[in-house]
Amino acid sequence: MKKTIALLSLLASAQAFSHVPDLKNYPIQAVYADLTLLKKANIPVLYADTNTNIGYSVLTGPMLQKLSELSHQHGRCGNFEALSEIPNDINSVKKDLEILNKLQTRTYNYANIKVAQNPKIADALQELKSDNIKQTVTWLSAYPTRYNRAPNPNIHVVDFSEKLKLLTQNSSYPITVDLIAHKNTPQKSIRVSIKGKTKPEQHVIFGGHLDSISGWGGTGRAPGADDNASGSASLLEALRVVLTQEQPERTLEFFWYAGEESGLLGSAEIAESYKLEKKNVIAVLQLDMTLFPGDGEFKITSITDFTSPWLRDYMKALNATYLNIEILDDKCGYGCSDHASWNRRGFPTLFPTEAKFNSMFQYIHTDKDVISSVMNFEHSLIFSKIALAMALDLGNSEQREPLF
Ligand code: BES
Ligand code: ZN
Repeated sequence: MKKTIALLSLLASAQAFSHVPDLKNYPIQAVYADLTLLKKANIPVLYADTNTNIGYSVLTGPMLQKLSELSHQHGRCGNFEALSEIPNDINSVKKDLEILNKLQTRTYNYANIKVAQNPKIADALQELKSDNIKQTVTWLSAYPTRYNRAPNPNIHVVDFSEKLKLLTQNSSYPITVDLIAHKNTPQKSIRVSIKGKTKPEQHVIFGGHLDSISGWGGTGRAPGADDNASGSASLLEALRVVLTQEQPERTLEFFWYAGEESGLLGSAEIAESYKLEKKNVIAVLQLDMTLFPGDGEFKITSITDFTSPWLRDYMKALNATYLNIEILDDKCGYGCSDHASWNRRGFPTLFPTEAKFNSMFQYIHTDKDVISSVMNFEHSLIFSKIALAMALDLGNSEQREPLF
C-alpha cells in the first residue's frame, strides 16, 4: 500500500508551530492513529491493535481537526500517519499493523549478546574529541534557520556536504558523498557511503536530521543546537574517526536527513527506496538530540518504541565493553524521529538519545535552542562513541538480528 506523509507533515507542523491548522475542509482521509486519542475524540475505529495501541480509521475533515487538536494538547506530535488512499481491503491494514507488532514486541531477551573487547576499537574511541562537536554545533546553529520550507533550504546542506567531500577525499577505499533530492520537499538529504570490503551488500546505517524549525509558519530563527545540530555533529565526529580506520567489511552509510521537522520527509523517501530496492540493512542508528544531559551526566536513554529489541541489547553489550555509562529505557509514544521511517518499513533501528522523554531539553523548536551552560559536549561525545563502536564492531562482524 502506497502511503504519503504529506498530511502527517501538516499535522506535525501544527504542533511544532503551537497552533492547529484548519483541517475542517480536508478531504476524507484514512489514518493509523493513537488508539487512545481516537477513542477520546469519539472517532469510530475500523481496526484496533491493542498491542501497539494503534487504530485504523477513516476521517472526515472535522474529525481530522478534532484529532489534531487533541493530539496537540496531549503531546508533541501529530500522533497519526495518513495513508495516501483508502485501502479497499482491511487485510492490508491488518498486515501493516502485524509488521509493527512484530517489530515492537519483545519476544526474546538478547541479554546473552557479547561484544569482545577489541583494542583497535578502544584506541579509536580515544580519538573522538568533544571540541570538534562543539565546533560543528556552533557552526550549524549560526545559520538563521535550517527549515525545509525556508526560501533557500539547502544553503547549510551544500556547505555541510562540501565539508564531507573534503573529509573523505583522501580515502584509500571507495567513498561517495551524495546529495539526495526528494519529491516532498525541495530540501536535500546527504549520504556518505563507505563501501564494504567483503560484504558490500550488507548496510550498517547511521543518521540524524540536519534541519531545524521554529516559530509561526516555521519562519522564525531556528538555531536547533540540540535539535538536531547536536546529533548531526556527533555523527560527523564518529565518521571522522571511522575514516582513520581500515575499510570496513560491511558497507557503512551516514545520512543527514532533510525535512524531519515537517514529518520525517527525507528519511521516509530514503527508507521507502531501500525497501523497494530490497537492500540488506543490518541496522539503522538514529541520533537526534545529544547535547542536554537531562537525567544527569553519563546517563542516556534508549528509545524502546519503533526500535529493535536486538539492537537495543546489542547497544547495551557495546556499552558494557567500551563505555560503561547508564542507559535508561523510555518511549517516545509516537514515531518521534527518523528511525520510525525505517522501522515502519521493516528495518531494525536503534535510537539512543540525551535523556528520558520528559527530561529532554524543553526549548526545542524555539529560538532558545542554543548553546548555553546547560549543554554538555561530553554528553554528545557519548553518542559519537556509540556510533563509532557500532561502525567498527558491527561493520566488521557476522552478527545481525536473528531472522525468524
Ligand atoms: N528531536 C525531536 C524528537 C524528540 C523530541 C525525541 C523529544 C525525543 C523527545 C524531533 O526533531 C521532532 O521534533 N519530532 C517531531 C515529530 C515529527 C514526526 C515531526 C515531534 O516530536 O513533534
Ligand atoms: Zn524537532
